[in-house]
Amino acid sequence: MTMAQEILISGRNLRRHYRRGSETVRALDGVDVDVRAGEAVCILGPSGSGKTTLINLLSALDAPTSGELTIGGRRVDELSEHELVRVRRGMLGYVFQQFHLIPTLTVAENVALPLLFLGRKAEPAEIARVLEAVGLADRARHLPRELSGGQMQRVAIGRALAVKPRVLIADEPTGNLDSHTGEAIFDLFRNAVRADGVALVLTTHNLALAARCDHRLALADGKLVG
Ligand SMILES: Nc1ncnc2c1ncn2[C@@H]1O[C@H](COP(=O)(O)OP(=O)(O)OP(=O)(O)O)[C@@H](O)[C@H]1O
Ligand SMILES: [Mg+2]
Repeated sequence: MTMAQEILISGRNLRRHYRRGSETVRALDGVDVDVRAGEAVCILGPSGSGKTTLINLLSALDAPTSGELTIGGRRVDELSEHELVRVRRGMLGYVFQQFHLIPTLTVAENVALPLLFLGRKAEPAEIARVLEAVGLADRARHLPRELSGGQMQRVAIGRALAVKPRVLIADEPTGNLDSHTGEAIFDLFRNAVRADGVALVLTTHNLALAARCDHRLALADGKLVG
């Protein structure tokens, strides 16, 4: 018998409303979500359905208008900004769609950067292991501009993995990639989840990748529809 997997992020009745003059945009309108250790959760839905809005809440980059959000067992609305930053940096790893690599730093330096922010030592052997895992061992000294789009994406994933997050969060990580490269990137995420019990939350328009996740949350107009 297996033990119930630890819940790392939990959202109940999450709402995120934006006021625009007299109008209210209900970007998220009462969503429940649980993210468990070792599981991959995929958020699906058409453009404007609220996927990025939800990802930003689960990442503690944005706060819900109402509802209950717990990250690592802590109610997010009860944390100070300082504590929130600690939770974000220590427990969560993000892969942004636009990569956000530092153009003047090498691949290895980009991967090591978040460790320095955390005040941890970036052991060269550890950075090498991460680069190996994302298939960039031979690109360590290259600059981002010398890489292809798929390779930059892999640097961004390596950077997220380097801090050994408990939850890896990615907004459309395969959006700009051809389907073969997209599959390879997804395999990287999947291996991290399997090997280290990391949880994965991602958005995608790719139904084949969604089918390979443990759970699928389908959004339409800010509501769960499946
Ligand atoms: N800062 C904002 N102010 C007002 N409305 C916003 C803001 N951010 C998002 N929205 C609105 O919230 C809704 C959901 O946006 P969101 O970015 O979450 O969609 P999405 O599902 O990620 O779409 P896509 O697939 O195009 O990335 C949209 O109608 C959008 O216009
Ligand atoms: Mg989006």
